[in-house]
Amino acid sequence: MSATAVIGCQWGDEAKGKIVDLLTDRHEIVVRFQGGNNAGHTVVCEGQTYKLSLLPIGVLRNGITSVIANGVVINPKALLGEISGIRARRELPAENLLISDRAHVIFPWHMAEEAILESSRKGEKIGTTMRGIGTCYRDKAGRTHAIRMGDLCHVGTIRDRIQAVAEEKNRLLAPVSPDHQPLDGAQIADEYLGYADQLRPHVVDTTAYLHKAIKAGKRLLFEGAQGALLDVDHGTFPYVTSSNSSGAGLHSGSSVPERHLSRVIGVVKAYTTRVGGGPFPTELDNPIGEHIRQVGREFGTVTGRPRRCGWFDAVASGYGARISGATCLSVMLLDVLSALDELKICTAYEIRGERTTDFPSRVEDLAAAVPVYQTLSGWKKDITGARTLTDLPREARVYLDTIAELIGERIDYVSVGPDRAQTIVCGQDGVSAT
Ligand code: GDP
Ligand code: IMO
Ligand code: MG
Repeated sequence: MSATAVIGCQWGDEAKGKIVDLLTDRHEIVVRFQGGNNAGHTVVCEGQTYKLSLLPIGVLRNGITSVIANGVVINPKALLGEISGIRARRELPAENLLISDRAHVIFPWHMAEEAILESSRKGEKIGTTMRGIGTCYRDKAGRTHAIRMGDLCHVGTIRDRIQAVAEEKNRLLAPVSPDHQPLDGAQIADEYLGYADQLRPHVVDTTAYLHKAIKAGKRLLFEGAQGALLDVDHGTFPYVTSSNSSGAGLHSGSSVPERHLSRVIGVVKAYTTRVGGGPFPTELDNPIGEHIRQVGREFGTVTGRPRRCGWFDAVASGYGARISGATCLSVMLLDVLSALDELKICTAYEIRGERTTDFPSRVEDLAAAVPVYQTLSGWKKDITGARTLTDLPREARVYLDTIAELIGERIDYVSVGPDRAQTIVCGQDGVSAT
C-alpha cells in the first residue's frame, strides 16, 4: 500500500494544491481523478506562484509522472493553454504527462448548454464556473452525445461524429434559446482535430499504466479537486459540482481501488469558504467575514469571484472528512485568523428546535440550521514564521486541538502561509497541539 490522497473536506479551495506540492517529494506519480478546469490549485514555492486547473501539481517537479485519469473532464483548449504556460516556465517532457483515453471531452456546446441552464434556473443560481463541467458529465452519464479523449485522438470517424453531435445539439438548443447561435460542426471538428494532434502523444490507457505502476511498487499521490461538500452525491445538492469530489470519487475516477490507499489527508481551512450558491450555516456576512476575505485573499482562483467566508464548521468538515475516509487532517490558512480577538467553531446545528451533529441531506434543512458555537480566544500574534507546534501561541494550539477533537482525526499538517516553507509538519504519530 503506497498511495496517498489529498481531499478537500469543505466546499473547495482548502489549499489542497499546497499540500499536494509538499508531498510530491515522497511520491512518483500524481493523479487527478475528477473535475476539470473548474479547479484552481495554487502552489507558492521559492517566490514563484503557479495556478493549475487541469494539470496535476506533479508537473511542477522533475521526474514525476502526472496523470489525468478517466474521471476528469477535459477542455483540450484549456489544457493546451496550461501546458504551454508551464512549458514557458519549466520543462515538461511528453512522457511525464499522461491523459486517460477514457476521460470525457468538453466541447463548445457544453458551455452553451450551461449558460442556458444557469440563466433559466428559477430561484438561487448554482453559481457554476461556466466551464461546461456539469453539462459534460451530463453527456457522459447520458452516453448518446459523449466523446472521450480516446475517440478524439483516434483518426477515423471522429470528424463525422463531432459534426453529428453538433447538429443534434443545435436541434436541441434552438427551441429553448431563441438567441442560440448555431454551432458550426465543421469548424469545431477542425479545431478539435488540431487539439487532438497536439495531445495525442499524452493520451494512453491510464488504467493499465496505474495498475502496472502499483505492481511495480510506485508511490502514488491523488490530487482531489473541489471538496467533499461539493460532491454530487454527498454534498449540498443541487449546489454542488457534477462529480464525486469527496474521497468517494477517487476509485471510480482513477481505477485504483481502496485497498491500495494507505493515507487520506483531509484538507480543511481553519475557517470556511464557499463560492457560488447554496446554504452556508456559519457564513459571516459582516465585517469579520470581510476581514477574513481580505486577509485570506479569498477571491476565486478560476473566476475571481469573492468567496463567501465564515467560521470553522466542525459539523460540515467532520462530515466531509468521514465521507472522504480521512485518516488525518491538514489545517490550512491558520495565519488568517491571527488578528481576531475571539474565534468561533460550530459544534452542532439547531434545526427547527432540534440539536444535531449530523449534516443534513436536504439543503432546506441546512438553510434552516442555526450554528451552535464554541467560543475560543484568539492569539493576536503573527504566526507566519512558526515552523513547529511549540512556535504557536497557546491559544492557536487550543484552537487546533479543538478542531482535531471535534472531527475525531489527528492533525498532521498546519499551514501558516502560502509558501511551501510555511508549514508545520506535526508528524504521523498524532502529536497533540497542546
Ligand atoms: P485549492 O483549490 O484547494 O488548491 O486552493 P486554492 O489555491 O484555490 O486557494 C488557496 C489559497 O490560499 C491560495 O491562494 C494559496 O496560495 C493560499 N494559501 C495556502 N495556504 C495558505 C496559508 O496557510 N495561509 C495563507 N494566508 N494562504 C495560504
Ligand atoms: P478547487 O479544486 C471551489 C463550485 C462552483 C459552484 C459549484 C458548481 O479549486 O477547490 P461547477 O463549475 O463545478 O459546475 O460549479 O462548484 N466549484 C468550486 N468551488 N473550489 C473549486 O475547485 C470549485 N470547483 C467548482 O463555484 O458553486
Ligand atoms: Mg481552488
